[in-house]
Amino acid sequence: MQSVLPPNPPLHVAIIMDGNGRWATRRGLQRSDGHRAGVEALRRVVEAAPGLGIGTLTLFAFSADNWRRPAEEVEALMWLLRAYLRAEAARLIESGARLSVIGRRDRLSAKLCREIARAERATAAGRRLHLRVAFDYSSRDAILRAAIRAAGLEPTLDAFSRLVSQAPPGDPSPCAVDLLIRTGGEKRLSDFLLWESAYAELYFTDCMWPDFDGAELAAAMADFRRRERRFGGVPAAPALAVAQ
Ligand code: FPP
Repeated sequence: MQSVLPPNPPLHVAIIMDGNGRWATRRGLQRSDGHRAGVEALRRVVEAAPGLGIGTLTLFAFSADNWRRPAEEVEALMWLLRAYLRAEAARLIESGARLSVIGRRDRLSAKLCREIARAERATAAGRRLHLRVAFDYSSRDAILRAAIRAAGLEPTLDAFSRLVSQAPPGDPSPCAVDLLIRTGGEKRLSDFLLWESAYAELYFTDCMWPDFDGAELAAAMADFRRRERRFGGVPAAPALAVAQ
């Protein structure tokens, strides 16, 4: 039997990487150690994503609300992003990944902004995976800014979505999120990709982010593949199949 359905398009998966602090505290470590371990988990997931049918991966690394954390933790997260960009650009290029950072830039240091721009330029040709790191990111802020930019334009839904998701013109990555994962046991969206997740499937796991890996991502994807997505319609007809 051969299926006549078209092959699955690459998916957009978004992850709220929660649980670093608790993971560290339970081990008698500093919260920043948890974030450092979180970067290792991020590397594992980036490596596993293309093989699981993921074309776009958006990771929540620093929310606009995270400025409320103690200064040393904020500083550690800024340092980790810079270190990650510097250390990973070559590996991302090699694995065909393109990196973008979404969120505000005006509150980041000039040094960090330069590193972001450098990594984005260096990886621009990657087509196997679009890795989007959300940093100083607030979804409500992104929607508000898109609305201000769109005022008087009467944009289409698609054009407005591109403004909200900060996609540069001609960017082929889908804005809509297919699957939104949150680790760390909490079940909330925390101002992450609210517009883009209008039809996202949600997956919550108790796994703390530093323990997350390719197998955990595969389990989330297997769960996602069992869901029936109806987008407000009715259940799909049984899959068409033709005898060979
Ligand atoms: C939430 O855990 C996690 C964050 C606020 C930061 C996520 C950052 C990383 C995974 C590593 C940084 C990666 C880069 C590239 C900068 P939490 O601290 O709120 O954990 P808790 O809920 O257990 O306290």
